[in-house]
Amino acid sequence: MKRTKYTVANWKMNGLTGSINIVKSISRHIKRSKHIKSRIVICPPFTLLSYFAQNDNTISFGGQNCHFLENGAFTGSISAPMLKSVGCKFVIIGHSERRQYQKETSKEINLKIKAAISANLKVIYCIGEKLNQIKNRNVILKRQINSLPINFNNKNIIIAYEPVWAIGTGKTPTADEINNIHLKIRKLLAIKIGASKSNGISILYGGSVNANNAYEILNLPEVDGALVGGASLKAKEFSKIIDSYK
Ligand code: PGA
Repeated sequence: MKRTKYTVANWKMNGLTGSINIVKSISRHIKRSKHIKSRIVICPPFTLLSYFAQNDNTISFGGQNCHFLENGAFTGSISAPMLKSVGCKFVIIGHSERRQYQKETSKEINLKIKAAISANLKVIYCIGEKLNQIKNRNVILKRQINSLPINFNNKNIIIAYEPVWAIGTGKTPTADEINNIHLKIRKLLAIKIGASKSNGISILYGGSVNANNAYEILNLPEVDGALVGGASLKAKEFSKIIDSYK
């Protein structure tokens, strides 16, 4: 089955109003290029979302997190319908930095995914093992896949496999390892929703993707795109990553 490919930028807590220039430059590149093989999504900080979405219709935008309730007394939080209302189509949920620093639990992540799906957002669900969990990777990935709600499918979920030890470190698994792990993830998805439905779900790789390694990683048969952190903040480098699909 032909799956949609995605190149997703996760800006994390980077970007001020002037960074619209990065968006404009990427957008110009997309318009000029005759070889765009993936859907481009930028997930900037919340403060920039509405402005970016109003100023660009070439790129899709997403939040980096959302609350699991629609509204209420939760100072500092943003809900899924709020993201939707400013033009977001996507939201990243379960990123390892939130699991680590905000102590997000599987239960909370499950509720957030449900809230995002109810708000008609497509969830970019991050999973992956820590360095000391490599030997137990299968168990970890299985547990994380089990946090998905029962109604997930290729319309509402994208998986981003991000080994925690590869994020921001310049290290990545080998190409063969990435391909094999993605195959395992697809098998785990098949156990939950059946082989034919699971075949439609895009599985992205994330963790130290850059302009130099993108060609090898993005053209692996089991890789359906990338979730890019650091390298997504440089328009030229991100544009090179976008151009790396065969
Ligand atoms: P990185 O981050 O590309 O800087 O490793 C990826 C991510 O955290 O999504």
